[in-house]
Amino acid sequence: METYQWDSRDYELHSGGQQLWARELIEKLVLTGTEELLDIGCGDGKVTAEIAGLLSGGRVLGIDNSESMIELATTRYPPEDHPNLSFTLLDAVDVSFAPTFDVVFSNAALHWVKDHRPVVESVHACLKPGGRMLLQMGGQGNAQTIIGVLATIMQLPRYRRYFEGFEFPYGFHGVDYYQELLREAGFVDPRVELIDKDMTHDGIEGLKGWIRTTWLPYTERLDEPDKDMFIEELAESYLKIQPLDAQGKAHVAMVRLEVEARKPR
Ligand SMILES: C[S@@+](CC[C@H](N)C(=O)[O-])C[C@H]1O[C@@H](n2cnc3c(N)ncnc32)[C@H](O)[C@@H]1O
Repeated sequence: METYQWDSRDYELHSGGQQLWARELIEKLVLTGTEELLDIGCGDGKVTAEIAGLLSGGRVLGIDNSESMIELATTRYPPEDHPNLSFTLLDAVDVSFAPTFDVVFSNAALHWVKDHRPVVESVHACLKPGGRMLLQMGGQGNAQTIIGVLATIMQLPRYRRYFEGFEFPYGFHGVDYYQELLREAGFVDPRVELIDKDMTHDGIEGLKGWIRTTWLPYTERLDEPDKDMFIEELAESYLKIQPLDAQGKAHVAMVRLEVEARKPR
């Protein structure tokens, strides 16, 4: 599985959008406070820590395949201060826990995996009977405008050489694909929805911060100073199509795939 060089400290500062989505998703969990919960693709750990704060009688394990993210999460939320919270460096496709979790949660992470079959199967395997999962990730049609602008900029003479052999990196899946995976893995009571979301950023700097910290499959291919130019050019070209609003906010039309299902008792 390809891993990218996340800058966890930069992500921490430019992930307000993801945090907002996570909070909406956490509300849907309706936790009792005693669950054992697994957070897949936990990133810098701030969302995982919010969940741990709701589980006075439970525990949370955050996993992520980025060393930078796990290092920051462990630094920010040390076990001495957060006894019901821990973090482990682990890829989502390598999850092989015994059936010990009541809930598996994931926000804004699983579209980094193309083939979700092994993930869905191992989530099923690590849930207790009657356990449930709630996942949200980029879905079919996600970020189409910015991806269209990227496709144009990648072909400019200055950048073309960096993108030889480039393959679209994300697994932006649709409802039918997921319904099938859930059924084959043995889940019941599925809810699979594509949800439109308006992501906002504070002006061009906020937009550039988001591009710099999350569009790594594109930006990592570039050397400096081309990388900074690419990000600048992408943000400027995007804002010509979708200008800042009267409050100076940049808007990006996103589509999230939300998946909820239960393991039979
Ligand atoms: C946009 S961040 C989301 C972090 C966090 N869930 C949040 O809501 O802020 C995506 C995270 O997914 C992680 N990730 C991507 N692919 C992964 C994989 N195959 N296994 C585990 N984590 C992965 C990245 O390292 C990154 O920390």
